[in-house]
Formats: sequence, C-alpha cells, structure tokens
Amino acid sequence: MADIVVVGSCMTDLVSFVPELPKPGETLFGNKFLTGFGGKGANQAVVAARLGANVAMVAKVGDDSFGHNYIQNFKENKINVDYVSTTREAPTGVAPISVTPDGQNAIVIISGANLYLSENDLQKAEPVIKTAKVVLCQLEISTETALATLKMAKKHGVKTILNPAPGQQNLDPEIYANTDIMCPNESEAAKITGINVDTMEDAHKAIKWLLDQGCGMVILTLGKKGSVFATKENPTPIHIPAKQVKTVDSTGAGDAFVGALAFYLAHYSSIDLQEAIRRSGEIATISVQKTGTQTSYPWRKDIPRDLFSNH
Ligand SMILES: Nc1ncnc2c1ncn2[C@@H]1O[C@H](COP(=O)(O)OP(=O)(O)OP(=O)(O)O)[C@@H](O)[C@H]1O
Ligand SMILES: *[C@@H]1O[C@H](CO)[C@@H](O)[C@H](O)[C@H]1NC(C)=O
Repeated sequence: MADIVVVGSCMTDLVSFVPELPKPGETLFGNKFLTGFGGKGANQAVVAARLGANVAMVAKVGDDSFGHNYIQNFKENKINVDYVSTTREAPTGVAPISVTPDGQNAIVIISGANLYLSENDLQKAEPVIKTAKVVLCQLEISTETALATLKMAKKHGVKTILNPAPGQQNLDPEIYANTDIMCPNESEAAKITGINVDTMEDAHKAIKWLLDQGCGMVILTLGKKGSVFATKENPTPIHIPAKQVKTVDSTGAGDAFVGALAFYLAHYSSIDLQEAIRRSGEIATISVQKTGTQTSYPWRKDIPRDLFSNH
C-alpha cells in the first residue's frame, strides 16, 4: 500500500555539452555526454520517496535498456514499481538535450512509451489508488489517462494534485472539476489561462481564473520569488517568498516543489496549508543549489530537522 501514487512520465535525459548549438546540416564535436533520470512524474515520485513517503508509480516504459534502468532507479529510490509496465510498441521516453557553455540549450522530447500508459493500466492500479492519501499527476502522459486518474481518485475520496505541465490551452473542463490542487509555474499558468504572468497582479488574476474553473486550490510557483496560493474558501492570494540562495541549477525545482507538497499533504495533517507550502518551497530551494535533476534532490537524512517537525 502507498500513501502517494504518482501517475505519470519517465524520461531518460541524454545531455550533450556542445561548444555551440549545431546549425542545420552541421556535424560538430561535443565535449561531454551524460544520461540522467527525468520525466516530471518520476521526478516528483523520487522527491516524495526521498523525503520518506511510501510512493507507488504508475507508468509505462519501453522494453529497452533505458526502461530497464529506469525501473532499477525507482527501486533504488524505494518506489513501488508493481504498476510500472513495459511496452514493445514504443521506446522509453527520451529527451536529447544540447547545452552550450553560456547555458543556451536545445531540447527534443520523444514521449514514446509514456503515451501508451492507458486507462486499462490505470484500472489495474485502482487498488493502490483507492487506498492512497494523495494522487499526483502531470500532463506528460495522454490527457485521457490523466483525466481518468483524477476521476478515479476523486471517486474514492483521495486528494488530487495536478501539475499541468506541459501547459496546454483549452484543457478539458472536467480536469479542473476533479483537481483539488492545481500547481502550475508562471508559463504553464499563462498558457492555460491566456493571462501573461509577469507581475504579482497577473499571478492573482491567473489564480482567480483557475479557481473559477472549479479547482479547489491553486498554487502558482514563481521561481526565486517563491509561490502564491489561494483556495476556493479563502480566495485572497497569499505570497510565500523563497529563501535567497546561490542558484547552481534550477532544473527540476518545480518537480521538487510538487513532490514535496504531496509528501507534506500525505503525512503532516497537523501543519497548516501555508506551512506545507512554505516547507515544499524550502525543499525546492535546496534542490537549486545542486546540479542535475534527480541528482539535486535531497534525501531525508540531509534535510534540516525542522522541516519534519509536527508543528
Ligand atoms: N533561484 C531560486 N532560488 C530559490 N528558490 C527557488 C529558485 N528557483 C526555484 N526555487 C524554488 O522552486 C520552486 C519552483 O520553482 P519554479 O517556479 O521555477 O518551478 P519550475 O519553473 O517548474 O522549475 P523548473 O522548470 O526550473 O524545473 C519555487 O517556488 C521556489 O520555492
Ligand atoms: C515552467 O515549466 C516548464 C516545464 O518544466 C518549463 O519549460 C518552463 O521554463 C517553466 N517556466 C518558468 C517560468 O520557469
């Protein structure tokens, strides 16, 4: 049994360090290459598990070395893989990324097996979903499967968190109705609402727009400015600033925030919502001080004890 079920994506990042981005038709020599475990679903699951939650992943990988390695990675993070299945129809999701010394990048995402995670796979996971405290999903799988996940969780009275990434216009209205907590970043909120989110006032407008669609709560993350949230019951937005730190690599900070939020909501009913959001921001801020995505996520033993206090 799991406290948190993540229904979402796995991607293998294929990172090439290049002197400059290649022009069309050009072949150039890079300096370094590495692979990394990514995909928003998996990243969020890893954060919650490293904080100490019992996490089950529902996902699809290809029958290839990337997929097999990914399942091993879940196990090393103590994540339940009973509902991570393999398909021969498509390869494991990959993201070839080129990065230049001045930090420019070019990214291609091949969703592959992630799009083969079906409603049938979800039905099989119903026993673990219905006994969870929190179900978490993103939009790197098919929208049908994501919506079916939210509905299944709601049917069983399980709290739902949606990180609507990548941002999409014209989301199915049923998505909002079945989302307890919608957690976008600025560009995702802009894409979904059509409101450009540059100022705090814009952020407030986007939050109101999302609440009006039927979400129970909206938490908009603002990078180094922290986050701002409001609920249906208390629609006046509250800003929670982030700690100022030296940023080494902010990749995956949003996933750290969302994974940590699931952890706090599943395990700390004694702290209030604002405190849960503040602590989730602190976990994300820890992650921006290290390079990489999952490599930047802290383990429980390395986290200040006050982030685990019951008050
Ligand atoms: N430079 C920073 N300094 C401190 N905290 C940060 C910084 N960047 C991000 N954070 C923390 O991470 C949270 C999520 O960041 P952000 O809104 O940038 O998500 P994101 O855009 O989805 O992240 P990314 O795309 O980089 O993975 C913030 O609410 C904040 O708590
Ligand atoms: C929001 O998240 C998406 C997906 O991770 C990312 O591409 C985008 O840069 C982020 N936007 C901001 C403003 O950080």
